Amino acid sequence: MTDYVLQLKHINKYFGKNHVIKDVNLDFEKGHFITFLGPSGCGKTTLLRMIAGFYEPDEGEILLNGKNIEKVPPYGRNTAMVFQEYALFPHMNVFDNVSYGLRVKKKPKEEIEKKVHQALSLMQLEGMEKRFPNQMSGGQQQRVAVARALVMDPEILLLDEPLSNLDAKLRESVRVELRDIQRQMGLSTIYVTHDQSEALSMSDRIVVLKDGIVHQVGTPQEIYFEPKTPFVADFIGTTNLIPVEVKGSDAVSYGNKTFHTSNPVTSGQSYVASVRPESAKLTAEPAPDKVSIEADITNLMFLGEKVRYFVKDRLGKEWIVDMFDPGKTILHGKVYVTFPEDRAWVIRK
Ligand SMILES: Nc1ncnc2c1ncn2[C@@H]1O[C@H](COP(=O)(O)OP(=O)(O)O)[C@@H](O)[C@H]1O
Ligand SMILES: [Mg+2]
Repeated sequence: MTDYVLQLKHINKYFGKNHVIKDVNLDFEKGHFITFLGPSGCGKTTLLRMIAGFYEPDEGEILLNGKNIEKVPPYGRNTAMVFQEYALFPHMNVFDNVSYGLRVKKKPKEEIEKKVHQALSLMQLEGMEKRFPNQMSGGQQQRVAVARALVMDPEILLLDEPLSNLDAKLRESVRVELRDIQRQMGLSTIYVTHDQSEALSMSDRIVVLKDGIVHQVGTPQEIYFEPKTPFVADFIGTTNLIPVEVKGSDAVSYGNKTFHTSNPVTSGQSYVASVRPESAKLTAEPAPDKVSIEADITNLMFLGEKVRYFVKDRLGKEWIVDMFDPGKTILHGKVYVTFPEDRAWVIRK
């Protein structure tokens, strides 16, 4: 049996009449880095707060190491949460902020100093012990908030968009550091973000949420290459969603082109095919071994490593196609959008 550190069973949550979490079932493996990914308002923070014990589910069970924690208050759960609005104590310096939880637990002075020192050096905040929050940048404050959670050796670390106040470069380096620390410590972590590249680059598993519903749970590769719903395909990365008709158990058609699908399809159901901009090419002639669709270039963006083309096919459908390493070649006019059959991923609507 897999060792689940946390399980959510049939979790439902309402705010008044607003049903914000809808029958969520999730199992979390020990030591994994799990990301809740979804647009603003989809319920990520609400889920995290229920795990931490700040909200109660209206229905369902939360199990920590197999035990129902309904009656366990937040401070008894051995989870540590870093809030979106990092909530440092403004009147305390960094040392006192980070050591707060350990002092409340009456840990010995030497242990407190050692742990605070370790956490501050992990978060690259050495020498800042005496600073007050208002003497630090937003990014530094966020890192203090993470250090404050790390010193507690939590069973589960809960992070709610902890890097949102960092500029792009620093965010990327803190991402890498945080993931390294998490791996080294084998720390079970739930990370909330609305940023898909953050989710793809950091996670063992991604949970994609929309309107309180779990659309998919999977590895970054599964989420990207084998999205289960049109929403997941569209939200993660950029894609072309093409309406197709079923032509057999493993074939669909778009216009007069029929091609095989890598996943089975059922007649009577509606499907779309997802073709990523990087999986298609634009060519002057149809490609015999590929699906080739006649189109016209309507617009383009030169982006250095690629040119992103906007084209319109004969059915009026607009496509995005990326041509990498373009050099000085810019295409114009009539072209064919071509892609190998196995690059079209078919999804039920
Ligand atoms: N304390 C609250 N009272 C009432 N409605 C809330 C409260 N917290 C969140 N909501 C609502 O619940 C939904 C999910 O919110 P939230 O979990 O904060 O989403 P996310 O973190 O994904 O942006 C939203 O519709 C939000 O307006
Ligand atoms: Mg939130």
